[in-house]
Amino acid sequence: MNQSLHYDVLIIGSGAAGLSLALQLPSDVSCAILSKGNLASGSTFWAQGGMAAVLHDRDSIDAHVNDTLVAGAGLCHEPAVRYSVSRSRNVVDWLMTQGVEFDLREDQPDDEFREFHLTMEGGHSHRRIVHSADRTGRAIAEVLTARAKETSNIHLLTERCAVDLIREADRCVGAWVLNTATNEVTAMGARAVVMATGGASKAYQYTSNPDGASGDGIAIAWRAGCRIANLEFNQFHPTCLYHPKAKSFLITEALRGEGAILTLPSGERFMPRFHEQEELAPRDIVARAIDHEMKRLGLECVYLDISHRDSHFVKSHFPTVYARCLSLGIDITQEPVPVVPAAHYTCGGVVVDQHGASDLQGLYVIGETACTGLHGANRMASNSLLECFVYATAAAAHIAAQRPSSVQKSLPLWDDSLVRSSDENVVIKHNWRALRGLMWDYVGIVRSERRLQYARGTVKLMQDEINDFYRRFVISRPLLELRNLSQVAALMIDCALHRKESRGLHFNSDYPDTNSLAENTILVPANSPLKNSLASPLLKLPRYDSSI
Ligand code: FAD
Ligand code: SIN
Repeated sequence: MNQSLHYDVLIIGSGAAGLSLALQLPSDVSCAILSKGNLASGSTFWAQGGMAAVLHDRDSIDAHVNDTLVAGAGLCHEPAVRYSVSRSRNVVDWLMTQGVEFDLREDQPDDEFREFHLTMEGGHSHRRIVHSADRTGRAIAEVLTARAKETSNIHLLTERCAVDLIREADRCVGAWVLNTATNEVTAMGARAVVMATGGASKAYQYTSNPDGASGDGIAIAWRAGCRIANLEFNQFHPTCLYHPKAKSFLITEALRGEGAILTLPSGERFMPRFHEQEELAPRDIVARAIDHEMKRLGLECVYLDISHRDSHFVKSHFPTVYARCLSLGIDITQEPVPVVPAAHYTCGGVVVDQHGASDLQGLYVIGETACTGLHGANRMASNSLLECFVYATAAAAHIAAQRPSSVQKSLPLWDDSLVRSSDENVVIKHNWRALRGLMWDYVGIVRSERRLQYARGTVKLMQDEINDFYRRFVISRPLLELRNLSQVAALMIDCALHRKESRGLHFNSDYPDTNSLAENTILVPANSPLKNSLASPLLKLPRYDSSI
């Protein structure tokens, strides 16, 4: 117990963001990548549709930028959008040099220069999604994990759950990490710490996300003094499989890109009544339309139908969706699939600049944990993998350029002398269920002031109980996740209460209109290092240097 370990760079998270950052560090920089489960435990492995990139002659950076700004409902940080989109081709090239294979057009089998097969998703005005059938995340994760395993300066540590960051003055110098196999807590020191822990959609009872999406990085960074922004914008994916035996299974939006339609049980198509882009309207609009129809008619689900397309095409483009549905007795080439919206993506997060640098020196935050401003009030489909890679590349370069000469060797020790083993673990299980049910019912697709106020009071009581439990008993991964999830839920509600309008993913029936001025919700913790700095505009997203 109480030993410490030291690396040049400590990366918390083994998804697209964490792995790609590690692979772009210079080979003489030692780094550890932590995962709280196995290496494929994040959302990356499950990504289906693909990654948005400007690759076709008829597409353009301006068009991709414009679509992102429209989907983001006026709130995107435009410099972050242009910065990300203009790097999309480089990202595709880099992934291919690592060994990732994207699908190519089937109608050019003999061409020396076959083009990518690009799919279409909601909000995009062009086909611009590169993909590996409907298992793009898995294709990327497997390649990057294999590369990391064969890279000698990268140490992969599984079953390690970060507890909190270690802060010295205004600098992050490491993290306390629980080894969930041995139950030991180790202080890990590093010149740079990278938070790449994914999102917080587990805050909701129904979600497309894997179990670990408990917002750890957001809660940990907040406790350490970092600002967070725009957490009221949690995205609900319109089409998750509705079946008693299917936990968290997504039906990719690319199905709608290839012509799938949404219907009521009667077979009636309803999206044309809601938006001119019909099934390919931005996600917030489609999810709200489904929610509206389900509430209006008292339905358990709606249906997604691609059975009019050629069955060979469906099976070859969507092998994962086809096989999963068939295993539950649904043949998508012959019949519609029952679907419901579910929490999918955390658009807000820890405020970072164009290098992925947070408010704390030495702490970088990338991937779904970060708020770069790219997504504004609603993420456009397939822009998130792009963001992971763009900011991982930027942070790797920044860390390499900033390598300070010394590493903090004496870290404070983890003291668990006053805690004991708990015989009341039902507290964790109960609060986990209650919190997620509360968020689904009161802080879901449609909100009201009264429900938000009630949810805030209830989450506060839960937090008191959970924090008391944390202080008294030996820590475990479920306890840490619950502590973090309740913290993020409180921040989500605070952000939602802050916003007196409806915009993008945040719809409040007491404030149904959209203000003419689009403003970010930025919350500043009491221990923010920026509170001492007169120069920093606390309530704005960072400025970008366009020469970089
Ligand atoms: P993740 O891939 O979620 O990885 C998080 C990592 O952090 C994991 O290794 C986890 O173990 C680790 N971790 C978490 N907490 C701790 C802790 N306390 N200590 C140690 N380690 C910790 N986006 C697209 O652009 N295109 C798509 O087609 C697409 N499809 C999707 C389909 C599904 C079903 C889902 C769920 C998401 C999809 N997304 C898609 C979103 C996208 O996959 C994610 O936003 C992205 O993969 C997040 O990557 P990440 O590296 O930030 O985090
Ligand atoms: C999907 O395939 O529908 C998910 C795409 C995304 O979340 O970006």
